[in-house]
Amino acid sequence: MATGWPAPNLTAAEVADGESYHRALYHDGDVDRCAGWHRDSVAHLLRLAMPHIEEGSLVVDYGAGTGGSAIELLKLTDAAGLTIELVLMDPLVSWFGKARQLLDHRDDVHFEFSMFTDADGETGFRRLDEVLDGRRAAVIISSSTLHLVPTKALPDLAMQFAGSLAPGGAFVWDSGDVESGMKPADASLLHDPYRAVREHLRDDSARQALLADMPEEAARLAEHRVDRIFPKPFSIDVILDAFDGAGLTCTISDHVIGFSNEDAKRFILVPRLAEIAAPLIEGEDRNRAVTAAIEAVLAEMRAAGTASEDEYRSHWVYGYHTLADAN
Ligand SMILES: C[S@@+](CC[C@H](N)C(=O)[O-])C[C@H]1O[C@@H](n2cnc3c(N)ncnc32)[C@H](O)[C@@H]1O
Repeated sequence: MATGWPAPNLTAAEVADGESYHRALYHDGDVDRCAGWHRDSVAHLLRLAMPHIEEGSLVVDYGAGTGGSAIELLKLTDAAGLTIELVLMDPLVSWFGKARQLLDHRDDVHFEFSMFTDADGETGFRRLDEVLDGRRAAVIISSSTLHLVPTKALPDLAMQFAGSLAPGGAFVWDSGDVESGMKPADASLLHDPYRAVREHLRDDSARQALLADMPEEAARLAEHRVDRIFPKPFSIDVILDAFDGAGLTCTISDHVIGFSNEDAKRFILVPRLAEIAAPLIEGEDRNRAVTAAIEAVLAEMRAAGTASEDEYRSHWVYGYHTLADAN
């Protein structure tokens, strides 16, 4: 049985949110039926990570979410007959609770909730070096997460990762949502369609009517919160500077990954992500508005040449970092 963070009793809404994101990664929630974009994006990351993993390796998955990257990693280590010690970290109860449920049966998985609340009620992120308590990881992976970390937090996070790697170890990450000069003209960033959905719905009359009924400051804060669900992408240079500054080598590669129309709909209808239509109340009306918007956005992308009839092309970058003085 897995150890560490025991998921608290989740509300029905939290369970539904975790289940829905899991189903955005795995069709019908079946871990053997990976959505193409998830399978292909994580496969490149794991190809970089696997050479550093051997029997007994300590591996960290930073931003583990519902367990999508961990599940794919464990498929590979199981197939190779390797037993590893896998530490998962995440700050989102609804998604991490789903990961706990999915991986609860595994003796080799340990859960660490990323957030803490201090005596004054202030929240913060726990430090990886403290979580590992002096132990060093052979590999740290972070799949589809770094673009969600505030840029000002990245230099310190990079120092934590550098301080938590064993000699010869590697930190490997991927993101479909950072700006770089590498993106071909016929591809978009992973979250571009969803930012466009947000713009489509910004002036939606039902949404605006609900906002108008709210006190002005509450409406402003609600809009601010919505804008942070798919934050404006920042440059890959911010990430590279942070890891370079922490004394890590930096090797970058990229891939274009097809994201099918059906998977895009499933993705944006995950309750936590469909909040981009807030304050429309969760339910059929909100889902209808979001579905109509994503269909319109995908049609615009076809016209712009970043999507085909079946899928949009998302551009992913992969970072591979080792301790500079270990080479
Ligand atoms: C898109 S999910 C990726 C989950 C998983 N790695 C996968 O590939 O399926 C990104 C995860 O990053 C977590 N996250 C968001 N902001 C974070 C932060 N500042 N630090 C660490 N994790 C964060 C979220 O809770 C979420 O579960």
